[in-house]
Amino acid sequence: MTRPRVFVTLPMAQEAMDLLDTKFDVLVWSNDDPPPKEILIERARDCFAFLTTVEDKIDEIILMAGYHHLRVIANCAVGFDNFDLEIGTKLGIAMCNTPGILTKTTADLAFALILATARMVVQGDRDVREGKWRSWHPLAYSGPDVHGATIGIIGLGQIGLEVAKRALGFEMTVLYHNRRRRHDTEKIYDLQFCEDISDLFKQSDFVSLHIPLEKETYHMIGRISLELMKPTAILVNTARGSVVDLEALYDALCNGVIAGAGLDVTEPEPIPPEHPLLDLSNVIITPHIGSASTRTRREMAVLAARNILAFAEGKVMPSCLNPQVVEQKG
Ligand code: DGY
Repeated sequence: MTRPRVFVTLPMAQEAMDLLDTKFDVLVWSNDDPPPKEILIERARDCFAFLTTVEDKIDEIILMAGYHHLRVIANCAVGFDNFDLEIGTKLGIAMCNTPGILTKTTADLAFALILATARMVVQGDRDVREGKWRSWHPLAYSGPDVHGATIGIIGLGQIGLEVAKRALGFEMTVLYHNRRRRHDTEKIYDLQFCEDISDLFKQSDFVSLHIPLEKETYHMIGRISLELMKPTAILVNTARGSVVDLEALYDALCNGVIAGAGLDVTEPEPIPPEHPLLDLSNVIITPHIGSASTRTRREMAVLAARNILAFAEGKVMPSCLNPQVVEQKG
């Protein structure tokens, strides 16, 4: 008997593949690069489920191609701006993500970028390797202290809160801006709410972004917000690249409007090697590795696989973004 097919768009943890294998024929796109759109369209026509990554733009064309077969799409990510959730829901396709699992791992990376940017870790390493570091110098490689500084967290969701906890360990003053004020959390952790985001920009030595990419947050960090920041401020983005206008950021970094940036995400990804930002020594760019610890990446893949299995077995899905699709069917 033929079994329903699942298309996995990049190789993932074997544990997740073994889970899927209990019920499905598993087709894995075994390249280093994600599948092109034609392949996604082709597979949407003959697969029951997709296990996708942030690289796969699941738009109306792909969803329409899957109208007869494709029933569930599980993103191996907490963010789902690569999904057209509205169309998927209209077509009755269940869509899922992987919240929770990567929270602390991503907060760790945000902190790594804060420390590395402030303390010129990458530039120092580069200079040592290239033989440019010749002697200890009282004025060289000195950046701002992280401990005791003020951090402004934009978006106090799970990841934002974990960054706040790490900041408290560094004796930092923690400001936050969030759509909804979090009175209880504020009291527990001694956080200061900035209702007006301008206040956060003006007061922070470090600004760390933890907001999803939506219409309202697209290029939220642009010329106006950068101008409000301190000339000594460092911007850190581990959320989504399109939240920051890179052209405005480049100008701000060149003109001393702010002092540095640590980016795990950019628009576009990958950032082209000839992009002018890459010529600046006050910027660190990592390749979207917020969730990249071995355990976290494995657990993300397993949760995505569990979402697909639960859907197929008519059980409650661990993290469905449009549960109304499943309820309508039940
Ligand atoms: C996510 O989960 O949204 C990350 O960006 C990918 O790890």
